[in-house]
Amino acid sequence: MRPSHRIHSTEDARRLAKKRLPRLVFDFIEGGAGREVGLSRNLEQFDRILLQPRVMTDVEERSQTTSFLGSQFGSPFGIAPMGMCNLVCPHADRIIAETACALNIPMCLSSAGSSTLENVYDWAGENAWFQLYFGQSSEMSLDTAEQAQRAGYSTLVLTVDVPQVSRRVRDLRNGFTVPFKMTPGAFLDFARHPVWSISSLVAGVPSPQNFARAGEGDGFNRKASRAGADWAFLEQLRKRWRGKLIVKGITSSADAVRAEQSGVDAIYVSNHGARQMDCVPPAIRLLPIIRHAVGPAYPILFDSGVRNGEDVIKALILGADLVMLGRPVLYGLGAAGKRGLNDLLQCLVEDIDTTMAQLGTREISELGLHNLFDDGERSDGLPTENGAARLQLAVR
Ligand code: FNR
Repeated sequence: MRPSHRIHSTEDARRLAKKRLPRLVFDFIEGGAGREVGLSRNLEQFDRILLQPRVMTDVEERSQTTSFLGSQFGSPFGIAPMGMCNLVCPHADRIIAETACALNIPMCLSSAGSSTLENVYDWAGENAWFQLYFGQSSEMSLDTAEQAQRAGYSTLVLTVDVPQVSRRVRDLRNGFTVPFKMTPGAFLDFARHPVWSISSLVAGVPSPQNFARAGEGDGFNRKASRAGADWAFLEQLRKRWRGKLIVKGITSSADAVRAEQSGVDAIYVSNHGARQMDCVPPAIRLLPIIRHAVGPAYPILFDSGVRNGEDVIKALILGADLVMLGRPVLYGLGAAGKRGLNDLLQCLVEDIDTTMAQLGTREISELGLHNLFDDGERSDGLPTENGAARLQLAVR
């Protein structure tokens, strides 16, 4: 294989996926809300954070084993819930599930996933989590959670940051709808990408599997309100769901503290990859603020803008216990299916390992705010020297 066809980074995977996928599909993955300034900001904010290398410590033996909610994972990252992954390549949900097992990392099946929750549990077992969107009513949503419980899931992620799906200009321009409707533009787009089109035709057009089955009238309606996922619903869900419960889409300290007080096992700090609002603050900037608000021991998951191993380490330093990957997973799958995803995740594993060595760290639990470069003149909104010291006390 030519070196330019191999994946050595998320940027490689993205470039190859962009070439291989119809524009309509690539834009569905890539697109954000509004002018997509929030999307760029999520990434830029990571680049502004600098780490402080340390030398001459014994780092020959290193481990990235990570504990989260009583489970031990092989690496400090997992795969975020994403709807309609099978659009990117046939059997994507299955590939994600099997890859998660091979690496011993968690993967979260979306309510809008293209495979049934039972199938995904069969493929990934305890590594599979289920993400719940509020459906047409509280009862129907609780029924879906109960189906997940019966299938064997022990971790449920309730997504609360989509009271209404935002307008995404790319999808509107491309005529992207669920269920899919062929337009002349889409026909041309598919004709220009025959490899994707033929393989997708053979596998069949994917559709959301878990909404329709929950007896939800017409099944999946992407534009339906999900605003029923309020605090009262959370209380009901907490009573009914016997496993671990995580609330995804927390961006404010007040909501974080309220979720903690509601008996939720962990919060998931995320701005949904800036797909919901353009002027949302960069998620990584929110993380230390929320960590400070909930205290050092409360479990926090994080995503939005993570693109490489150094980003994973930065999020762990700033208060996450486990970091989730979104778009990069779909770039890897879109670039080269199973091999693409595997290559991409291997890049992350290796980057995390070498970054730990650079920082003089042997265990994930040793990471802390002392690993940040802090010249006392920060302009990026992250803690200044005094702020870092204050947060360090909170994080320890
Ligand atoms: C998502 N995300 C998402 N989240 C969720 O809770 N349920 C879902 O069904 C989806 N669907 C979805 C589809 C696609 C194509 C993308 C890209 C994202 C959001 C996802 O879980 C995560 O929060 C973001 O992807 C994080 O941003 P980055 O790091 O991917 O930019």
